[in-house]
Amino acid sequence: MMIGIIGAGAVGKSLGMYFNGVDQSVSGYYSKTMAHTIYAAEKINAIAYDSLKDLILNSDLIIIAVNDDAIEVVVRDLSNASESLSRKYILHTSGVHTSEVLAPLRSKGAKILSVHPLQSFADPDEAQKSIPSTYFSIEGDLDEKMMNWLNNHKIKYFKIDKENKVKYHLAAVAVSNYLVATLDFGTKQFESLGYTKEFALKALWPLVEGTINNVRQFGTVKAMTGPIVRGDLKTIDNHLSVLSGLERELYSKLGEYTVEIALEKGLDKEIAKGISTRLKEENHG
Ligand SMILES: NC(=O)c1ccc[n+]([C@@H]2O[C@H](COP(=O)([O-])OP(=O)(O)OC[C@H]3O[C@@H](n4cnc5c(N)ncnc54)[C@H](OP(=O)(O)O)[C@@H]3O)[C@@H](O)[C@H]2O)c1
Repeated sequence: MMIGIIGAGAVGKSLGMYFNGVDQSVSGYYSKTMAHTIYAAEKINAIAYDSLKDLILNSDLIIIAVNDDAIEVVVRDLSNASESLSRKYILHTSGVHTSEVLAPLRSKGAKILSVHPLQSFADPDEAQKSIPSTYFSIEGDLDEKMMNWLNNHKIKYFKIDKENKVKYHLAAVAVSNYLVATLDFGTKQFESLGYTKEFALKALWPLVEGTINNVRQFGTVKAMTGPIVRGDLKTIDNHLSVLSGLERELYSKLGEYTVEIALEKGLDKEIAKGISTRLKEENHG
């Protein structure tokens, strides 16, 4: 199947480079800004479309990789640009939207899907390399032809129900975006001591990697270490004494959540209650 990609952003470029690398099957790009369309298309020797009509004509599979809020606009534009979309597959890559946002295109004969990569696409050149190890969640008109295509392109996928997508997406945000936020919180403490951003990340990195590896090997409960699991209330008090504002609230809220994990790991209930009460005082005045 020839692929047309709408959206020359992080995901569009990464998928384009990956699929083109597999079997040179990307016909071209269409995006809002022509300079971005040309940049993405030139990178893989594909066509920079200036009209959706041409992209539709040359593509059996259309990937909509635009920001979530623009999907409806693109659906309207695709609908206006085509008489019939029969035998076309059209998918979007949003984590939170279901395939239903593409319903107007199904009424023109297209098979519609939402296909979301559980991956963070910060840099397309790097991200494309991680695609074969990435899991994609899929929902919509997943037929045998599409399953064969996914398998032939070494895409690992699992099915998800429409009604579960919001919670599913929230999980992805928690382990990706909030992990980044936590790393930022930690490295900022180092920076406030006069170390550079670069050194902070370098010095903390083995700890980050060790922790992630422990989670992978032993699961979250066994991997949890530190003052809360040990029941060291004085250490927690010391930490709170050098924090203020949002950082103090964040430390306390994450601490409250950590107490639940510590209980699962066997922390004494009375000690856990003492720590929880102290942390809750922080959050609720
Ligand atoms: N980034 C991630 O880590 C990630 C991971 C999984 C899923 N996703 C999903 O993938 C989708 C794309 O995300 P992204 O991070 O690649 O976004 P992005 O980097 O912001 O790129 C969005 C692209 O959409 C184009 N666009 C916007 N409105 C358009 C329109 N009306 N017609 C044509 N093109 C339009 C933009 O055009 P111009 O650049 O040409 O102006 C831009 O290139 C989103 O649904 C997102 O939720 C993202």
